[in-house]
Amino acid sequence: MRVLLGVTGSIAAFKALNLARLLQEEAELKIVITRGGLNFVTPLSFSTLLNCEVYTDEDYWKPRDEILHISLSRWADIVVIAPATANFIGKWAHGITDDLLSSTVIAFNGPVIVAPAMHSEMWHSPIVQENIQKVEEIGGIRVGPETGKLASGDIGIGRMSPPEKIKNVILEYRDLISSLSGRKILIVYGRTEENIDPVRVITNRSSGKMGAYLVRWAKLLGASVVSIVGKVETLIPHSDKLTRVVSTEEMQSEVLENIQDVDVLIMVAAPADFKPKETSAEKIKKGSKINIELEPTPDILKSVKKFKKGKVFVGFALESSELLSNAKGKLQEKGLDLIVANPPEAMGSDRVSGYLVTAESSRPFNNLSKAQLAREIMLWVAEKLERLGN
Ligand code: CTP
Repeated sequence: MRVLLGVTGSIAAFKALNLARLLQEEAELKIVITRGGLNFVTPLSFSTLLNCEVYTDEDYWKPRDEILHISLSRWADIVVIAPATANFIGKWAHGITDDLLSSTVIAFNGPVIVAPAMHSEMWHSPIVQENIQKVEEIGGIRVGPETGKLASGDIGIGRMSPPEKIKNVILEYRDLISSLSGRKILIVYGRTEENIDPVRVITNRSSGKMGAYLVRWAKLLGASVVSIVGKVETLIPHSDKLTRVVSTEEMQSEVLENIQDVDVLIMVAAPADFKPKETSAEKIKKGSKINIELEPTPDILKSVKKFKKGKVFVGFALESSELLSNAKGKLQEKGLDLIVANPPEAMGSDRVSGYLVTAESSRPFNNLSKAQLAREIMLWVAEKLERLGN
């Protein structure tokens, strides 16, 4: 495992030495110290103790053969920012890349473990809370901060987590990456549309956000992702292969085309369940007598059940009543390993509550952001793949 440790300007920077020492037994290490960090620790403290490469902004601005922030971001499997100041968190959340560490983190496509350290009055500031939330959405894994005695002598939240605790999170993500890297995951998301006439459609309120977060987390943890995407109200993240579809039948044929090649299917799409029996080639005029006869569209999961052997299948259930019992029914009927049961309010919203339901158990989750839920689902998938051992 190759770990890049970023040290920013907080008194907790001295604890980064201890963290680096603990990590040295488990990982190849490189260190980046920011301008602020240099006020507390020096490159010499790390290089003497650990015999590893240490970089500062002086290296960033020096002419060299390679582009340092790109080579560092490609080199690392995991980035750890410990301590992470409010300034660093704010820069990352807003895409500011004015030094070596911020540029490396933005270029890095993998898990970034962030251990905030600051006074509690800064931590509680609404802008810091907004920024840390944003950072967690884009791939940051927050550890701490802890409550205790602060540099000012006050007691409160803001202390960097102990190095042992940060190390354990790093090891947890190392294991996740090793379970998911090289795995092929098919993620189907967004809603479908069925034409009534050239301008009107039957559809639903799915935004596609949950699917987009699942793609991001699968990619961050090293999986190869194939996405089949309907209509969405969100940015479509990068996938290894991406196909856009409009109708349920198109979605079904793309899923059938790709299913045999993948290890995991995550079906978070909201296909329109009905379509007009006949589609009018002309725009239906307002005064017309309207009677639209509907017929069912295919159930995509049921149609791929026959390819399930050896693969992990995850679905979602949207239920306005009898959440658990309906979800359990769909789990069985659609041949799934896991079904994420949630109420209709989840559609389009940023936070969700519900259950992760398997044949053996139902685990509740409460008011998670969709990014957090995506991470939970990927953890579950990684564990399941490990258990299957194929
Ligand atoms: N699904 C599917 N094909 C469809 C409709 C849904 O594969 N035509 C998938 C969804 O992507 C989801 C699961 O089936 O993973 C359950 O979807 P949901 O909308 O909760 O249930 P439906 O099967 O559509 O049944 P109902 O609308 O009667 O609850």
